[in-house]
Amino acid sequence: MVGPFMPDDEKLPAIREALPSTAAGIYLNTGTCGPLPRETARAMAELEGIELRTGRADMAYWKDSAERMNEARAAVAAVIGTEPRRMALTHATTDGMNVATWAVDWQAGDRVVTTSLEHSGALGPLWALHNRRGVDLAIADIGTGGDQAEVLAALDRAIAPKTRLVVLSHVTWATGARLPIAEIVELAHSRGALVAVDGAQAVGAIPVSVEELGTDFYAVPGQKWLLGPEGTGALYCAPSVLDRPRLTFAGYAAFESLDLAAEGKVWPDARRFEIAGYHQPSVLGFARSTAWLSMYVGLDWIHERTARLAGEAAAILAEVPGVEVVTPRDRMAGLVTFRIAGWKAGPALGELSKRTLCIARTIPPLDAIRISVGFYNTDHELGRFRDGVALVAAHTPETIPHRPAIQVLRGGVE
Ligand SMILES: Cc1ncc(COP(=O)(O)O)c(C=O)c1O
Repeated sequence: MVGPFMPDDEKLPAIREALPSTAAGIYLNTGTCGPLPRETARAMAELEGIELRTGRADMAYWKDSAERMNEARAAVAAVIGTEPRRMALTHATTDGMNVATWAVDWQAGDRVVTTSLEHSGALGPLWALHNRRGVDLAIADIGTGGDQAEVLAALDRAIAPKTRLVVLSHVTWATGARLPIAEIVELAHSRGALVAVDGAQAVGAIPVSVEELGTDFYAVPGQKWLLGPEGTGALYCAPSVLDRPRLTFAGYAAFESLDLAAEGKVWPDARRFEIAGYHQPSVLGFARSTAWLSMYVGLDWIHERTARLAGEAAAILAEVPGVEVVTPRDRMAGLVTFRIAGWKAGPALGELSKRTLCIARTIPPLDAIRISVGFYNTDHELGRFRDGVALVAAHTPETIPHRPAIQVLRGGVE
């Protein structure tokens, strides 16, 4: 069993034993979905069993559901430095970004500002807003996101009068840069704009304190660095947005009371941004994974180890001849994005997967490979991955020796 104060040489094997999919290859894609803890899967399966055997409609089960939702809100609130009443449960980061975008009382001619490095989870709602409400969309070009002065200057130019909302990532999905959120929030607030932060690549990888950042909204996924199931997430809502009960999406979950004459009273807390029902085994899984990280692994330990390993991964890759690390090395979180000269990202990753059994992804707009380095990775794994990159970089697609694909039968790990 994993404990927060175990020595590393005992803790790491215990962590990897608790995360069985770390044995199915070199797990380098938590930026998409993290490895699920064994205990989370077990708790979810138990609840699925109860649902199967005794049904979901029992009133006691219904009351328990409310407790599970409280548990999930509290678990995620603890990780991002706030109170449970400021958290709404969602089904994804994208869900939270949609709620945040439509929480503003938009008028034609208003302006929304974002950056050139946003994921479609944040850009999608802005596109819809621009098309449906005639809101001007300004996209600040922030380069790789690594130069703080450049980022701030670009946003300073973009946040013009009538800007009602600034939308941006804490850590950019493509280049892996950590953006200076607190400074941007200060700038936006000084011009009367709210800020909605996409925390998909930050929470669970780097320390996050939403209250210190001062942001109005902060969207969190369950399935990435918090190692929860898919279809889970949460949205932090600051008092600034809880003062005004403006809902765009609304349903029974949002109301303390709502009668047949549509006289309604929304919850005074962030629950007003919840709409309807949630898959209870997933809510439980989200709560348990998040609490496992805080209580058993230890957030400080996770953040320190992630920073060290990701920094080392960037350093050893940058030394390989022909490799260009795109991620700004002094503004990193857990993502490392790189290119290999002479290779398109897709075929290069194909060769790497065959040779090292790595699980990673490409970033099509940059034609680059992205790895996500987590606290459960080992130095040995990173060394093996680096050797694979060196081998690919020493060849071209034409000269690399043929290597048949290995089919990893993922499953049946128990
Ligand atoms: C920065 C960023 N935002 C949003 C998303 C979408 O996350 P979700 O599937 O939780 O909506 C991702 C990754 O998938 C991401 O990297």
